[in-house]
Amino acid sequence: MILLASNENPLGMPESARRAAAEALAGAGNYPDSNGTALKNALAARLDVPADWLTLGSGSSEILELAAQVSLKPGEGVVYSQYGFIVYAQATAHAHAHATVVPSRDFGHDLDAMRAAIGDDTKLVFVANPNNPTGTFIDAAPLLAFLQSVPAHVTVLLDEAYTEYLSPAQRYDSIEWVRRLPNLIVARTFSKAFGLAGLRIGYGVSQPALTARMNAQRPRFNVTTPAQAAAVAALGDADFLTRTYELNTAGRDQLAVGLKELGLECVPSSGNFLMVRVGDAQAVHARLLAAGIEVSLLGPYGLPEWLRVSIGLPEQNRAVLAALR
Ligand SMILES: Cc1ncc(COP(=O)(O)O)c(C=O)c1O
Repeated sequence: MILLASNENPLGMPESARRAAAEALAGAGNYPDSNGTALKNALAARLDVPADWLTLGSGSSEILELAAQVSLKPGEGVVYSQYGFIVYAQATAHAHAHATVVPSRDFGHDLDAMRAAIGDDTKLVFVANPNNPTGTFIDAAPLLAFLQSVPAHVTVLLDEAYTEYLSPAQRYDSIEWVRRLPNLIVARTFSKAFGLAGLRIGYGVSQPALTARMNAQRPRFNVTTPAQAAAVAALGDADFLTRTYELNTAGRDQLAVGLKELGLECVPSSGNFLMVRVGDAQAVHARLLAAGIEVSLLGPYGLPEWLRVSIGLPEQNRAVLAALR
């Protein structure tokens, strides 16, 4: 089966991380370091922030959940965009809060409308850049202007699960924004470009007061010893990250060109996936499955005519295009 449904890294896990995780297994009879000291130190050095600005999560999904738990009381409001990542709705529901889902513009965030939707009871805003499942990207300048316009009592979770796939021209320094904005949490993950989705590890960056609340809420042993060790190794594996980036950029072009040749509409993506309009997505999904290819249905996002295809190895992308043809 060719798995292109969950935006994983088609290279799999870096060899450096596999070795580190295997070594760490020897110590798995003991609880993990609940503070994640070695990984936090590595991240702190990489991001140039103190270690007490970091929260480790069981995937960045847990960072999103923690942000909701520390920001919201029952009945309070959350703002996010239509086609926003599914966990925003789940985290809102888990906190017994209510969501204002702002209609998207061209499949991306309408930041002006999101700003206008922030009311007195709003306590949390989710923004994904790039967004999943649409792949849309917000330029740094309008994004920073939006963040600066959000009232200080409203937490903003900037979800950067796919940030490593941005082109050099798109990249921006959101950690610098965290230094300026005490209500901002930047969430990142080791599940995508770092190839560790199955180990469940991600992190949040925020100023110490907010970080302390996140860590107080966090289950004590939420990140396993092999996951912590693998993340340290993956973070230091620049070659793997470069290979991942280059493979993704080329594969995304390959798929986009091929889909265009097939006359299929797709949304330009800044992530490691492409959203393509196929009409009867259920039927096409079933035919692809029969051909041994799993992609993602987007019915739960209100996009019943679209499929999301993760970028694979060149031969996997070719197989998707051949099957769609
Ligand atoms: C936009 C976005 N944020 C967060 C996540 C969470 O990933 P994880 O919990 O594996 O870090 C995903 C995963 O698909 C995602 O697409």
